[in-house]
Amino acid sequence: MHVRERRADGYHALESLFVFAEDGDILRAGHRDDGVITLAVEGPCGAGLSGDEDNLVMRAARSLQAATGITAGADIRLDKRLPVASGIGGGSADAAATLRLLMRLWNITVEGAVLQQLSLSLGSDVPACLASTTQLVRGRGELLEAQALDDLSCRPMLLVNPRVGVSTASVFAGWDRIDRGPLDARNIDGLARAGRNDLEAPARLLAPVIGDVLQALQAQAPRLVRMSGSGATCFALFDDGQAMTQAATALRHDHPDWWVMETRIRTS
Ligand code: C5P
Repeated sequence: MHVRERRADGYHALESLFVFAEDGDILRAGHRDDGVITLAVEGPCGAGLSGDEDNLVMRAARSLQAATGITAGADIRLDKRLPVASGIGGGSADAAATLRLLMRLWNITVEGAVLQQLSLSLGSDVPACLASTTQLVRGRGELLEAQALDDLSCRPMLLVNPRVGVSTASVFAGWDRIDRGPLDARNIDGLARAGRNDLEAPARLLAPVIGDVLQALQAQAPRLVRMSGSGATCFALFDDGQAMTQAATALRHDHPDWWVMETRIRTS
């Protein structure tokens, strides 16, 4: 995540590589004729997350109804498996999945530019999550360029969160406004050498435990370790699944209170 500039509108101009994992939250929806939308939240990370109008899933459903004038509704269930406010775009992915799921359920199509605007109004990361394939993301999050980084596809990825939530707005507000240059990496070694996360320093000021997570992951000798997004989740990429599982076992043993997820980067 390279942060280039604080814009006049308060958002930051980014250059960030988005990859998508094979595992995540699960969303289901059943059709209703009466226009009512309900949301039930369950799952290991669902505690404390309400299904009220503030939930991004609910907001996505309402925006789609408003944009299309559809009279149908839906009963939605969100199985929350990713920690909230953890910098891995779980809420944004849920919002994007809601749009796709309801367009299918309601059998409607929405013109590309309208869908793009609608998704951006839900959050800066939602357009990339709607694309849902590896993307180089610029601007506030709306300028997408599909990437074919072959050596990232299918790669084992370990995600670790110390169960500390950090506010994205607070992390951005702590950025020191020094432009450290563009993101120009085309493979994993390039990312390891020349890539960085400019939000790591401000996130660590808010949650110093992020330093412990990065150190614990680095000790497992992966190909690449980095904080994700605005944190506090960090990820490590491994050459094979066995190395990842060994690292996961060690981390779960040493830090039983941390959230540890073994997954892979999706091919498409
Ligand atoms: O767009 P979203 O609501 O997800 O952003 C949450 C907060 O993160 C914003 O209010 C802003 O403070 C910060 N942000 C930013 N620049 C971006 C994306 C997010 O400053 N490109």
